[in-house]
Amino acid sequence: MSLVTLMLLSAVALSSAGRGTIFTGESVTLSCHMNSTYRENPAYSWYKDHQKIVEDKWIFSIQNARSEDGGDYTCEISDSDRSDALTLRVSDGHVILHSSPIQVYEGDTLTLTCHHRRGYSVNATIFSNGNRILEQNRAGSVYLRNVNKTATDTYTCRKLFTLSYEEPIKEEDSAVIMVKELFSDPEIKFSPYPVTVGDAVTLTCETRLALPKAHTKLQFAFYRNVLNVQEFGQSSQYCVGSVQPRDSGNYTCAVRTENDTIKKTSRGINMEIRVKDVTASVPPGNGHDGDDVCYSYIDVSAMPRGSLAPSAKSYSVLYSAVKCQNTTGPRQEMCN
Ligand SMILES: *[C@@H]1O[C@H](CO)[C@@H](O)[C@H](O)[C@H]1NC(C)=O
Ligand SMILES: *[C@@H]1O[C@H](CO)[C@@H](O)[C@H](O)[C@H]1NC(C)=O
Ligand SMILES: *[C@@H]1O[C@H](CO)[C@@H](O)[C@H](O)[C@H]1NC(C)=O
Ligand SMILES: *[C@@H]1O[C@H](CO)[C@@H](O)[C@H](O)[C@H]1NC(C)=O
Ligand SMILES: *[C@@H]1O[C@H](CO)[C@@H](O)[C@H](O)[C@H]1NC(C)=O
Ligand SMILES: *[C@@H]1O[C@H](CO)[C@@H](O)[C@H](O)[C@H]1NC(C)=O
Repeated sequence: MSLVTLMLLSAVALSSAGRGTIFTGESVTLSCHMNSTYRENPAYSWYKDHQKIVEDKWIFSIQNARSEDGGDYTCEISDSDRSDALTLRVSDGHVILHSSPIQVYEGDTLTLTCHHRRGYSVNATIFSNGNRILEQNRAGSVYLRNVNKTATDTYTCRKLFTLSYEEPIKEEDSAVIMVKELFSDPEIKFSPYPVTVGDAVTLTCETRLALPKAHTKLQFAFYRNVLNVQEFGQSSQYCVGSVQPRDSGNYTCAVRTENDTIKKTSRGINMEIRVKDVTASVPPGNGHDGDDVCYSYIDVSAMPRGSLAPSAKSYSVLYSAVKCQNTTGPRQEMCN
């Protein structure tokens, strides 16, 4: 199978992914290419809005374009596949606002270019979105770097022309720009659930990249109670071997692009650590921060009657039991 591509030559506003705009009265040439090797006497067919218009050479020209020439063009070479559609717009105004890229994602640089008909002299070009003026210059282009979703808007360019014997005239064109999500808001998860003292727990930071941007490199970081526990790196997982009660807390993760243009943080997830074989909870305030904490317990029900047992009958177990573990050394080995 072969891939057929359709290219637009010499349009006023040409973008790479199959769209172009010209003014009425101008000419434009479309060319049809195949990626495969030479074929003898290939036959070319041209279509506009799915209707066959002509069988011709590898190029197709429109002279002195009229508004009706606008539409979706495709071509076909012999018995190969049809090319993707190329959308040609023919404007009868004086100004064309052209934006690139066609699909804008968070972190991209959005380029807006304001074209005008040949032969007019222009005083000023004004770019705006909503009622806000972005830029006023003579160059006719504006670059919005590292856009985010708040840049989704209708953009307008307005040109002021000076014509001889007349007042300057204003002409404008608008385009709706949608900034798409590069990757989804991250979600943090952990397993196993529930977590018991001594488990190896893996926290995972999940996000999805937009399909056309699937090659983008992302970095992940993990936090417990806002403090960083794993710096930004390639791994979307953070593992704690042999968890202890002090590992419990509110975990969040963050995802960013390698150059830190876009960064998103997950909601917090509360990780509680269940103590083995006991029903009572670990008394707070014991142990020292950062130390391994060992608890002992007194099973009241097992104590002989008439002994020094506490009077409160509702407690069968006063303290939780946790096997004391050395967590400094072999802890991380449990993770692989
Ligand atoms: C042409 O492109 C198609 C689709 O990408 C691919 O399958 C095919 O191998 C290509 N042919 C050549 C000769 O490069
Ligand atoms: C347009 O340019 C002319 C000559 O350069 C100048 O006199 C005039 O004030 C300009 N008009 C506007 C609206 O900027
Ligand atoms: C989105 O972009 C605007 C304009 O550059 C900026 O003021 C704002 O802080 C950005 N928002 C986020 C969440 O990065
Ligand atoms: C950041 O990286 C992305 C792709 O990884 C690239 O498209 C973008 O232009 C870069 N931005 C800056 C400001 O370097
Ligand atoms: C967890 O921490 C995040 C970030 O500091 C905070 O927004 C969230 O409310 C916390 N969640 C809980 C359950 O404490
Ligand atoms: C804990 O493990 C480390 C590394 O295996 C070892 O060097 C250290 O002596 C151990 N500490 C105790 C109290 O066993």
